[in-house]
Amino acid sequence: MQHQREQWGSRAGFLLAAIGSAVGLGNIWRFPYVAYDNGGGAFLLPYLVALLTAGIPLLVLEYAIGHRYHGSPPLAFRRIHRRASVLGWWQVGICVVIAAYYAVIIAWAARYIGFSVSQDWGDDPEAFLLGEFLEVGEPGAITSYVSGVFWPLVAVWAFVLVVLALGVRRGIERANRVFIPLLVVLFLVLVVRALFLDGAALGLDALFSPDWDAITDGSVWVAAYGQIFFSLSVGFGIMITYASHLHRRSDLTGSALVAGFANSSFEILAGIGVFATLGFMAASSGVAVDEVAQSGIGLAFIAFPQIISTLTSGAGLFGVLFFASLVIAGVTSLISIVQVVVSATQDRTGMRRLPAVLTVGGGIALISILIFPTAQGLHYLDVADHFINQYGIVLAAFVVVVVVAWGLRLLPSLRAHANLTSTVRLGGWWQVALGVVTPVMLGWMLWDSLRQEFDQNYAGYSDGFLLAVGWGVAIGAAVLGVLLSLFPWRGRDTFVPAELETVGGRERA
Ligand code: ALA
Repeated sequence: MQHQREQWGSRAGFLLAAIGSAVGLGNIWRFPYVAYDNGGGAFLLPYLVALLTAGIPLLVLEYAIGHRYHGSPPLAFRRIHRRASVLGWWQVGICVVIAAYYAVIIAWAARYIGFSVSQDWGDDPEAFLLGEFLEVGEPGAITSYVSGVFWPLVAVWAFVLVVLALGVRRGIERANRVFIPLLVVLFLVLVVRALFLDGAALGLDALFSPDWDAITDGSVWVAAYGQIFFSLSVGFGIMITYASHLHRRSDLTGSALVAGFANSSFEILAGIGVFATLGFMAASSGVAVDEVAQSGIGLAFIAFPQIISTLTSGAGLFGVLFFASLVIAGVTSLISIVQVVVSATQDRTGMRRLPAVLTVGGGIALISILIFPTAQGLHYLDVADHFINQYGIVLAAFVVVVVVAWGLRLLPSLRAHANLTSTVRLGGWWQVALGVVTPVMLGWMLWDSLRQEFDQNYAGYSDGFLLAVGWGVAIGAAVLGVLLSLFPWRGRDTFVPAELETVGGRERA
């Protein structure tokens, strides 16, 4: 059967899309605090080690699987081994969950672009966020919808679905060609402005002062590997999907190096911008940086609004730059997450792009719109994010790496495959990184999370309902994967990539 997979217009287009997928909310609001909290300047050492021993090797692995087997994760794994498609479907299940809640954060950020102009949050950004904007209610069944979140969320989904409907080259590639350079420019302007704020040096000092003792602490290493996994978007099948649209002769290792280092550079830039700003906040309120440093929703939607209100000049512009950067970074990641599900559906059913986008993309949008712009949305978001990250992505990545490296013993042939067309040749170190270092670190992360979960009363979720939702989401993604893998396969699965014959087709036996 003739292979009909759409291809990227150019290598730069693929790279921009891969970088757009990696650079997301996690880079802007997660990295700065993780680095600060885990040894400051000294954290850069475990972070770099994690990038080189797990992040980039995993990127190469996903690129090689996608490129060699020309498929979304379920099809690629099915071509490796008939029963392995369940791994791909599990990743699809994870993407469904992540996409549903990730979109609502982008919707909040989009709304905050408008709020920044007149600083609608007043004197108390926290009360504004939880009370006036999100109208947060008690956890439990949904009690009401919040129109201020509902409409921006509808707009985010409409945009993402239009981009996906346009296709890989005309939609995804073109959007990233515009958004990624724009993001870099907006963010650079923001960082330069932040560096000129009073107290910026205080913040940078807090971020970069090395605490060398920290690197003897195992949890700092777990944090470094955790940050690399989440921020590079490895483990949920995105890179397998994106690489499946590459030309036959593509430089896989060179692309992984470029994408990996671009993502980390953006992360460090975000660290500088965020901590320079937090330094200003600490200096202007006469407290230590320690007291104002935070991450996630608290950083973006409470601390930043507070800071914006304190600025005497250009406050509105500063807010617009910050929230627009969040929106762009988030949207390019969301597009890549939904593309995994769309591509898997097309592979599985043989559907054309538009109906696939409308049915499964529209389906996820509907779930997202029904659950998250509600008085209980924040609670659901919080548990879904925690459980799918700790026990969805990490566990799936662990199982995939162990199955590929040890179960199917596929690393030597994937290495040969990558070396056929790449500039930087993979040596034996790559197999050691994936066969030993990565599973050990992923296993350790899982164990560490479970330990904390039980020690701290399930990460502080004393509410039994939310706890059940959290575990339900993490286990549900896996169950969804298993169920999807049970249906008879109707789509494209007879195509045998030529590389299989040249590099040895043992895996298809
Ligand atoms: N890697 C993306 C992020 O950091 C998903 O948010």
